[in-house]
Amino acid sequence: MDDFKRPSADSGDDKAGGKAERFSRSGFIFAAIGSSVGLGNMWKFPYITGLYGGAAFFLLFTICLLLIGIPVLLAEMAIGRGGRGSPAVALVRLSGQKIWGGFGLLSIIGAFFIMSFYAVVAGWTLHYGVLTFSRALGEGTDFAGEFFDFIGGFLPVMWQLVVMLITGWIVLRGASGIEKFNKILIPSLVVILLFLMVRVLMLDGAGAGVEFFLKPDFSKLTNESVLVALGHAFFSLSLGMGTMLTYGAYMDRQQSLGSAALAVGGGDLLYALLAGLIIFPTTFAFGIEPGQGPGLAFIALPAAFSAMPAGWLFGGLFFILLAIAALTSCVSLLEVPVAYSMDRWRWGRPKATIVTSVLCFLVGIPSAISVGGAVGGLHWGPRSFFDWTDFIASNIILPLGGLIVTVFVGYVWRDAGREAGLTAGWFIVWLFILRYVAPLLIVLVFLHSSGILKF
Ligand code: TRP
Repeated sequence: MDDFKRPSADSGDDKAGGKAERFSRSGFIFAAIGSSVGLGNMWKFPYITGLYGGAAFFLLFTICLLLIGIPVLLAEMAIGRGGRGSPAVALVRLSGQKIWGGFGLLSIIGAFFIMSFYAVVAGWTLHYGVLTFSRALGEGTDFAGEFFDFIGGFLPVMWQLVVMLITGWIVLRGASGIEKFNKILIPSLVVILLFLMVRVLMLDGAGAGVEFFLKPDFSKLTNESVLVALGHAFFSLSLGMGTMLTYGAYMDRQQSLGSAALAVGGGDLLYALLAGLIIFPTTFAFGIEPGQGPGLAFIALPAAFSAMPAGWLFGGLFFILLAIAALTSCVSLLEVPVAYSMDRWRWGRPKATIVTSVLCFLVGIPSAISVGGAVGGLHWGPRSFFDWTDFIASNIILPLGGLIVTVFVGYVWRDAGREAGLTAGWFIVWLFILRYVAPLLIVLVFLHSSGILKF
């Protein structure tokens, strides 16, 4: 039990290797925005928005993010900072009950699974960045054929390795390295995003895309779209896998958790908005349907960009944007098992990083080669290995992790209010959401996304 005793406030000895790692105040915000802004915003969000009705879906997503996402985000951050530890120890320290260590296990399994297919798609973005900048894609290209040839081969494994090497190299540097990396990349991301948005909005026909994205048609709303929007709000804010908890453990004690959670949630939402203002005008200007599914970012958009003057430049920038967003999220995903093994087994950071990176890479290989069918037989039932890991991580482990966080803060941890530092009024609202609203909705999302119930 000694392992789990709460350290005296910031004694600095609560990590293996002596001195505890810390973010600066802005460092946390940058790192957490880096985690939340990712392929979810640029790759999943556009195609589910296209699928579930455009602007009405975006509105739902916004409501879910503000009403449920940010309160759960705050709960994860509070657990991390209050328990001063990774998911392996934080909940156990705060409750004094070993059973909560199960959350740690769940979170590393979840983070491993997400990382395994996430690094594969991150690799695609690097490949497409190189292709576009080298002007290998042009007007005569068969974009769908190009994409399926690529993912049907073994090249994605090489790119997945590159992603793992970059991610591991950053995580090896610890909290301060992660902070530095995000402080360079997030501002670059914003500059590229704004530049692309201005260019795209000047295209002829861009207005129809803006309208599709921002003018809601409520007749398109279904029960299903509500649950998909909530599930995506969780994915987009990196909840349920201990990512924000792990980053929260590196936060300064004096920093206001409430405003940090608002900044991160607001940043993620703003990014989704700007990404939508790039993707929909581009597709509409070139007469492409946005509800195309996962191929949207790798087939429809490269085709659209290549039809623009200096398309290689804009298309290339688009993939750099995607790659940056993906890498900053990969770093936060890898940090979960790394911090876990440092806390739980007292490994040093180098050992923890190398072992988990190698494992993540190996677990990801079947994903890389199954999605495009390079190797037959990696299909079970309706899904490839890639789709199964996405399904199990995003639709089963993620809601389960989110539920544990809400129940823990809502019912078990008595000091949560003090750690969160909210005013009395906000605290009541927060607790109400965590006790009654969020668990109920999360259970519904789980029943729906796991396929147990049809709505
Ligand atoms: N939020 C990231 C995105 O939108 C992905 C991500 C990073 C994530 N860490 C996570 C998703 C933890 C779920 C849980 O792309």
